[in-house]
Amino acid sequence: MEAWKPSSVGVIGLGYVGLPLAVGFAQAGLTVHGVEQNPDKVARVNAGDSYIDDVTSARLQAVVVSGALTASTEFSALKNCDAVIVCVPTPLTINKAPDVSYIENVSRALVPYLHKGELVVLESTTYPGTTDEVMLPILESSGLKAGVDFYLAFSPERVDPGNVHYNTLNTPKVVGGLDAASTERACTLYALVVPQVYPVSSCRAAEMAKLLENTFRLVNVSLINELAVLCEKMDMDIWEIIDAAKTKPYGFMPFYPGPGIGGHCIPIDPFYLSWKAKEYDIDLAFVETAGKVNDAMPGFVVDKVAFALNSVGRATRGARVLVLGVAYKKDISDLRESPALKVLEKLQRWGAEVSYFDSHVPEARVAGVTLRSLPRLDAETVHGADCVVILTDHTSVDYAMVEQRAQLIVDTRNAIQHKGPRLFRLGDGTEGIE
Ligand SMILES: NC(=O)c1ccc[n+]([C@@H]2O[C@H](COP(=O)([O-])OP(=O)(O)OC[C@H]3O[C@@H](n4cnc5c(N)ncnc54)[C@H](O)[C@@H]3O)[C@@H](O)[C@H]2O)c1
Repeated sequence: MEAWKPSSVGVIGLGYVGLPLAVGFAQAGLTVHGVEQNPDKVARVNAGDSYIDDVTSARLQAVVVSGALTASTEFSALKNCDAVIVCVPTPLTINKAPDVSYIENVSRALVPYLHKGELVVLESTTYPGTTDEVMLPILESSGLKAGVDFYLAFSPERVDPGNVHYNTLNTPKVVGGLDAASTERACTLYALVVPQVYPVSSCRAAEMAKLLENTFRLVNVSLINELAVLCEKMDMDIWEIIDAAKTKPYGFMPFYPGPGIGGHCIPIDPFYLSWKAKEYDIDLAFVETAGKVNDAMPGFVVDKVAFALNSVGRATRGARVLVLGVAYKKDISDLRESPALKVLEKLQRWGAEVSYFDSHVPEARVAGVTLRSLPRLDAETVHGADCVVILTDHTSVDYAMVEQRAQLIVDTRNAIQHKGPRLFRLGDGTEGIE
């Protein structure tokens, strides 16, 4: 039998995950049909105007102009694709239960266009069992049989927005199919765009591998945040201690404290797993504890701001507090689940006059109100604040100037990198030392 050789692929959901992938397949010579429900994003893709930091408009334009990538809101665009990849959101409900409704909606929308020989791959991060328990029955309602008429697999996305070394196209990909034929096809597809494809025994194994990766990160960030709080009480400097520990060449990898966790992955994905674990009467205590520790961090930071202001006889109420960086991590524009939003909200509740500067984030919704970034960060603005709070350490900020001009600084990211007068570093017990 002739080997399967896909030449056209559909990507559903052109967000942080889907757009880089769609561009990657287009650059590899495939015909790519992007389906995106947001008409503004569709228009921008078709105009070669990227809205994702990791995809330059020049790269996008090249594949749009060549005709390799087109975007549409219509699922009918997928009717002749050899494969489709689903990259839609998987949020939590307000009760921290998985919301797989996006996956269900897409699966239902795919049914009329599903055809013989097609491969469907889910990339959205989700609990083990989603591909075969949620997607499979919906897709088979078409009358086609998985493993016979069409193929189904899960392959987690590992993109790390803002990472200058690793991106969608140079990171190994884990692939698990419903059966051997599905795994083989999914491996063939991804081998066209990534250097290494790592097959596992099932969709569930691939789903679980992704949750292991993200749970590992959640738990370790939580551990270091807990130790940062302890170091403050014990008059020790967590940053010095991490630097010392990471000289060990094996068995340790550094994680760094901060104002809490953010983004669409780490604060959410592990709770998909703890939800699923309950079905087996297992409480994932590590996940729940890690969640609690991290949830407490924004409040801890606000207490630190109040403490810093108190040291110069100022109340939080009425104090001018300037926040630097609101994205959930450095050098990106993603605000989703950013702990900065909680810090800003609490500072406002306590009566502070808050403003922020973030060259990546022109505006942010805080407790239903839109705040706008200051247009620039100059010495006068820094000096005019009663306290400057560094929540995200974007590289574009001149921290030496901030240190020189600020009246008080609360640094949650070690952006200043040493002790100093009027400087209150997260995890550093010698705060504000003269
Ligand atoms: N952002 C990351 O760093 C990252 C990393 C790894 C995995 N993931 C996972 O990948 C998945 C997608 O995340 P993302 O960050 O790309 O989300 P995103 O919100 O940036 O993109 C998802 C896109 O899907 C679109 N969409 C929703 N429903 C649709 C529908 N019915 N039809 C067509 N388009 C639809 C949305 O409009 C949006 O543009 C999630 O499961 C996430 O957990 C994200």
